[in-house]
Amino acid sequence: MKNKILVTGGAGYIGSHTCIALHEAGYDIVVYDNLSNSSKEAINRVSTLIGQPIEFVKGDIRDAESLKQVFSAHQFFGVIHFAGLKAVGESVAKPLLYYNNNVSGTITLLEVMASHGVKNLIFSSSATVYGDPETLPIDEKSKRSCTNPYGQSKLTVEHILEDLAVSDASWSLIALRYFNPVGAHPSGQIGEDPNDIPNNLMPYISQVAVGKLDKLNIFGNDYPTVDGTGVRDFIHVTDLAQGHVAALNYLEGQSHSEKNSVEKKPSIGFLPINLGSGKGTSVLELVSAFTVITGKNIPYQFADRRAGDIASCYASADKAKALLEWEAKLSISDVCQDTWRWQSMNPQGYNIS
Ligand code: NAD
Ligand code: UFG
Repeated sequence: MKNKILVTGGAGYIGSHTCIALHEAGYDIVVYDNLSNSSKEAINRVSTLIGQPIEFVKGDIRDAESLKQVFSAHQFFGVIHFAGLKAVGESVAKPLLYYNNNVSGTITLLEVMASHGVKNLIFSSSATVYGDPETLPIDEKSKRSCTNPYGQSKLTVEHILEDLAVSDASWSLIALRYFNPVGAHPSGQIGEDPNDIPNNLMPYISQVAVGKLDKLNIFGNDYPTVDGTGVRDFIHVTDLAQGHVAALNYLEGQSHSEKNSVEKKPSIGFLPINLGSGKGTSVLELVSAFTVITGKNIPYQFADRRAGDIASCYASADKAKALLEWEAKLSISDVCQDTWRWQSMNPQGYNIS
């Protein structure tokens, strides 16, 4: 058995897929989640898929006492930190909730990690920290700026991690900046299960396809893009999950060389890495691919641009390839096929009662 990893937010969309990838890579995992935006059913299904129960603790990252109990009970190599709130619109309406949960929660987690001598962290950051990019593809040196509290909470955590790395060279802090995570596990057993009406494009399309929603509103057809609709870098969630395994392998590689060398090598400090496919796909291209793959017609109408949206956003994935030896393998067709399998097998998501 390899090292033990604490996975905060492991019951969520990206976390649940990453738990499977971590298990397949031989890691021992403990999931810590308050289930504020997820279901215990996701953990049950991950347990079934991996053929053994997952160790699950229901707890909040803002609860230091609860975290201390978990850190005292286990010897962790590091933490993969997914726990956070992620709805841009809600963050504008409830900024204190977002800063409290995403920023204060991360500070509490880091304090408990420090007090238990656990100094390896992989943090879920976002391409949102790049704001409206000046050049494409976006590499990690691009200017960062945010226009909403959700984005600010991610950027603030990145600044905290940078300062922490400067203050104490024994921290290794990787910020993975995800582009647009989409798709589902190929089994159809786990996937994205948004509360209420989805904000994001892919779950909206699949809910139209399954008949839960009438038609898609496409926000803007006058952007300076291939067909006037927004362009994004859609990355399959199982590729993203593998990106976390690759980041963990990288962290372990660094700490092994540290142990074996006479002269102590510094830890990696703060390291931001994009996780994207490197390819841009427009909204209309995604709708059309979904129809071709699933045979489902997606009625749509053009609507006004959505406030805060940008025209185009796609990653330079070169740093992930060079450092982590990771790159996206799955295509937009795989995304559509796997999303539809999950949606059609689970029209009500995890709500099975
Ligand atoms: P998700 O909501 O499905 O998962 C987040 C999990 O964290 C949920 O299970 C939720 O219950 C848990 N959680 C939230 N606050 C918590 C707290 N205070 N204590 C304990 N658990 C808590 O979201 P996701 O799509 O899986 O995203 C995972 C991470 O990746 C988030 O930090 C998100 O901001 C980030 N991210 C997501 C996207 C995306 O489009 N999905 C893009 C970029 C970054
Ligand atoms: N879109 C529509 N109709 C919809 C939903 C979305 O036309 O019903 C369009 C948007 O206008 C945009 C594209 O589809 O052009 C993608 O929109 P999403 O809401 O799916 O994703 P965003 O790129 O806006 O944002 C996502 C996450 C953010 C994250 C960002 C970068 O929601 O949290 O990716 O990682 F910060």
